[in-house]
Amino acid sequence: MPSREELLAAYRLPDRETPRIRMNFIASVDGAATVHGGSAELGGVTDRALMQILRAMADVIVVGAGTVRAEGYGGTGVGGADAAWRTSQGLPDQPRLALVSRGLEIAPQHPFFAEAVARPLVVTCADADAARRRALEEVADVLVCGETSVDLPAMRDALAERGLRQVLCEGGPHLFGALYEDRLVDEVCLTLAPRLVGGDAGRILRGADEAAARLRLLSVLADAEGFVLLRYASVAGGEGDLS
Ligand SMILES: NC(=O)c1ccc[n+]([C@@H]2O[C@H](COP(=O)([O-])OP(=O)(O)OC[C@H]3O[C@@H](n4cnc5c(N)ncnc54)[C@H](OP(=O)(O)O)[C@@H]3O)[C@@H](O)[C@H]2O)c1
Repeated sequence: MPSREELLAAYRLPDRETPRIRMNFIASVDGAATVHGGSAELGGVTDRALMQILRAMADVIVVGAGTVRAEGYGGTGVGGADAAWRTSQGLPDQPRLALVSRGLEIAPQHPFFAEAVARPLVVTCADADAARRRALEEVADVLVCGETSVDLPAMRDALAERGLRQVLCEGGPHLFGALYEDRLVDEVCLTLAPRLVGGDAGRILRGADEAAARLRLLSVLADAEGFVLLRYASVAGGEGDLS
């Protein structure tokens, strides 16, 4: 398994000032993003270690409401060594966590809020239900970006204005598709899991127009179990220069 130092070096950010959106996903060899409705069965020790390192490097972890509904996201934060690494870098000990939703069909009692290790954010749009929005304002900072759906460039700018420039987006596929369509994705971190899933599971990116957008390989690491950690930069589109 790659060491913590190898992971920190392979995924190092060139600077913390340029706003950047980094995606992190896992997929099987046959391209499935889920098994039995979630990604947990695809993961392994190395993948979880990488996720912790990427979270440690982020100012904010952004997730779509579909992923929170499927996977919970209660108590999401970094552990002791990563919290200490963050403070050594002059960062708050925990990254923030942000939910993207138009419908706001999530209760303030949900573990996403109730077990949050830092005050969460909710990113929504002006058309969102006012009563639901008021209820969530009790437990989160609510950002309104856009009218009928979340304006994702405006979201990135609103986060950056709050000092949250290094964004780690952990999905899901529809949010990835929307960010990709807006040319906001700077980096794709993909763990290839040594699994074949079959069935009709979806892929890691959904909803965007079909294309063959090029990516540039930045690093490859593998572990003894056959998990392959791939780091790619967007070639056109994303703005955070990773060269
Ligand atoms: N393999 C992996 O690495 C991985 C990673 C993450 C998730 N997953 C899996 O993916 C599945 C969930 O997929 P998904 O595509 O439904 O999840 P998703 O992208 O997390 O959530 C989609 C939802 O996010 C909100 N949203 C996205 N873009 C928006 C925009 N521009 N404006 C307003 N709201 C926006 C909407 O929420 P509202 O409906 O609330 O308005 C939308 O229904 C789960 O099974 C999960 O386990 C896999």
